[in-house]
Amino acid sequence: MNIVKKNPLNKLLMKNMELSLLASGDGTEVILHKLYAGARWAMAPADDWTALEHLTVMSGRLLMTSSAGEVVLGRGDSVNACPVKEHMIFTAETEVEFLYVTSQPQFHFYSNSVKDMMDLAIRVEEKDGYTSNHCDRIKELSMKLGKVMGMDSDELYIMNLAGFLHDVGKVKVPDEILKKPGKLTNEEYDIIKMHTVWGREILTETNNPDLIKAGEIVEQHHERFDGKGYPHQLNGGGIRTEAAIITVVDAFDAMTTDRVYRKGMTHDEAFEELARNKGTMFHPDVIDAFFSILKES
Ligand SMILES: [Fe+2]
Repeated sequence: MNIVKKNPLNKLLMKNMELSLLASGDGTEVILHKLYAGARWAMAPADDWTALEHLTVMSGRLLMTSSAGEVVLGRGDSVNACPVKEHMIFTAETEVEFLYVTSQPQFHFYSNSVKDMMDLAIRVEEKDGYTSNHCDRIKELSMKLGKVMGMDSDELYIMNLAGFLHDVGKVKVPDEILKKPGKLTNEEYDIIKMHTVWGREILTETNNPDLIKAGEIVEQHHERFDGKGYPHQLNGGGIRTEAAIITVVDAFDAMTTDRVYRKGMTHDEAFEELARNKGTMFHPDVIDAFFSILKES
């Protein structure tokens, strides 16, 4: 018998959640999750994955999004899946605690690829001169656009990862180029452009199926609707919608954020810039969706 008194077997502190492994044995794990308000978590299907997955909410309000729509879970509500057949996305509307039980161990999975990649993305964000939470903002806004554009929960989940990790390839760009205050030479700009391809490579190397899929989107986040982007000069329908969304959101955030070396534009100035580049740099449907969200808020 093993009594756990506030001392879990293993504890993982992530940016917006805490995971405590309370019990593990014979392939089963019991993990206490504490999500801070606004944090997202997901159950995802996987090939050869036949596990039972169960969660029970202990406190707070947890919004569940699946193909069946949205439902708010409260204390005592539970979800079972055996196996998980689609992505289910959970968003903490308040601080939430829930117990998660799975018959196939995956605590190590959290501590490896996804968390490592997220930590790497945050380091890149800082190195690139963003002052705060660029990756989080990209993720938030791209999720809203994805919902308006009718993506299902599986697509939203992968885009969520890609949105957070879009610039992870910049970890391979030398500091003296990334942080160069003056104009870049053509050769230096060519190296910066490689962050799209490097991002995909880094995510592919994790061997995590979701990160591999996200990598395909990451590679395309600087393509342009008119085919003048990089790295592959794809155009229009050749560009994944998820990537087209991240392009718009990334551009908007880059324009409106104060960087270490310059002040950001006002929102109105950035809106004009987005409208001006609709159909050339940006996918027109994504720009329309972007402005429809603004009208609602
Ligand atoms: Fe980028």
